[in-house]
Amino acid sequence: MVKVFSFLVLSFITILVHSKDVLAHNKTRNYDSTGSNVTIAGVERNCPPPAGVVDDAVWDTEWGPVTAADRLLVRKVRLASLWELPMAQEAIQRAQGARVRQISATIEAQHVFLDSAVRSVGQQLGIDLPTEPNSQQKCFINDMESRSGHDYDVTYVKWLRFAHGQIFELTGTVRSTTQNSVVRSFAETANLFVLGHMQMLESTGFTANSSFPVAPPVMH
Ligand SMILES: [Fe+2]
Repeated sequence: MVKVFSFLVLSFITILVHSKDVLAHNKTRNYDSTGSNVTIAGVERNCPPPAGVVDDAVWDTEWGPVTAADRLLVRKVRLASLWELPMAQEAIQRAQGARVRQISATIEAQHVFLDSAVRSVGQQLGIDLPTEPNSQQKCFINDMESRSGHDYDVTYVKWLRFAHGQIFELTGTVRSTTQNSVVRSFAETANLFVLGHMQMLESTGFTANSSFPVAPPVMH
């Protein structure tokens, strides 16, 4: 319980520093059974996260122990590239706004790099990686594909910013807790990219309330 509480406090501090606007959207948040997917009521209704399974095993490796949270981060980063990369490629062609097309080119290039890195980490640590987007990500994709013009731009920015907000918490948590040197280095890289992508998406001016995960509850 103390550990879980510490994770929540750490995540809150991370969000507070990097995204103060999140504080304006104080709604109920939920976690799936992996403790990884942060959702808000509206988003959960429209694009619910997939059901997870409990995994608390710790693996011993020559680079240090690999926790379930470590493995989750590696898999989540792989999942991110599986949908975000093709969506960024599409946005370069489809987006109406020049700034959206511009940031999408950068996001695409960085996810090519990140995807290569995550596959390398997965292979090194023996972590099996997903090969297709999950049901929530497919829902994001379908929502984008059904729109055009400015509506497409806004929806693209919304889902990408929301997804980055989810994984940013996890990169911070894993960076602070992992005792595995490979995962620690990878978490730093992922953290930088995720932060950069959030900043770029916010720079479009198209973020709205629904673009942000909700700040966690705080106990005083
Ligand atoms: Fe990204």
